[in-house]
Amino acid sequence: MSAPTLEIHIAPEQLTAALREDVATGLTSSPKRLPPKWFYDARGSELFERITQLPEYYPTRTERSLLEEHAREIAVIAEPQVLVELGSGSSEKTRLLLEELGARGTLERYVPQDVSESALRDATNRIAREFPEIEVHGVVGDFTESLHHLPSGGRRMIAFLGGTLGNLVPDERREFLASIADVLDPGEHLLLGVALVTDPAVLVPAYDDAEGVTAQFNLNVLSVLNKQLGADFDLDRFRHVALWDPINEWIEMRLEATTEMSVRIADLGMVVPFGKGEQLRTEISAKFRQSGIRAELAAAGFDGVQTWSDPDERFALVCACRS
Ligand code: SAH
Ligand code: AVI
Repeated sequence: MSAPTLEIHIAPEQLTAALREDVATGLTSSPKRLPPKWFYDARGSELFERITQLPEYYPTRTERSLLEEHAREIAVIAEPQVLVELGSGSSEKTRLLLEELGARGTLERYVPQDVSESALRDATNRIAREFPEIEVHGVVGDFTESLHHLPSGGRRMIAFLGGTLGNLVPDERREFLASIADVLDPGEHLLLGVALVTDPAVLVPAYDDAEGVTAQFNLNVLSVLNKQLGADFDLDRFRHVALWDPINEWIEMRLEATTEMSVRIADLGMVVPFGKGEQLRTEISAKFRQSGIRAELAAAGFDGVQTWSDPDERFALVCACRS
């Protein structure tokens, strides 16, 4: 086995600068908002892994079953020599693809990219041990930035699993799909995992579990601001809110101030007032319809779209070819 390599495409100080900008903008907006990428420090990544094991959180296990069932078909369609994965996290489900692609003998390289260095280090070490025949090269980076640094040479497939596409607001999503189309050569593939619109009675508990793990995950973003920017958020004075927005067809996670308060963000020299009951949006998690995702892919420059979904139609794997 060769040791995995890790490329720091965004250095910690650049991440902190981006966090400062997002916080300065998001906490002075009305309503207040923060982008979800700041959930994922080491503790946030661990909490996300716990979420994936919860009985209420069906997306991960549904996507895993779809990969178990369809990895071979995907491998035959895309035949990648290089598998790039964006927002790879623990790379846990990706092992199913790597097993299939490894068995076919076409795959040479796995390139996971994530903003969470801790998650990426753990994953690349584990994958390199488990798949000694595949070269593993991790990239610490932001998938909403240019993707042109990603490796070229060798037929590629870009995987974006877990439903993370739904965490981008529609404009970001359009730009993101266009930037993937822009880096891929004609004939190369994109593999998406997307959560589908389903019954709110199933959706809402997936984001508001009985054990309160999602609440801890949501509140963790305030701990990130406390640690990274010297803020003094009192986590006991916020409560987790998850609601289904039927117009936009997305779940919205928010943090609601339970009292009026002023929060000081020392490193930004800011004081942020919160009214009692005021809500800060921390994440959207859009759910898709198969016709909608096909239309978005076609608009971005993909064709040959194939989809596989579970019998309850709660999740879909979508494989598309750069035209
Ligand atoms: N793909 C994995 C993990 C999903 S959790 C799965 O299916 O289980 C979302 C992952 O995306 C986290 O690991 C998080 O660190 C990463 N992430 C979130 N925003 C990101 C961004 N803007 N750029 C790169 N990675 C990001
Ligand atoms: C990573 N992403 C797809 C998750 C989701 O379902 O939107 C993040 C998450 N938020 C709350 N629970 C899980």
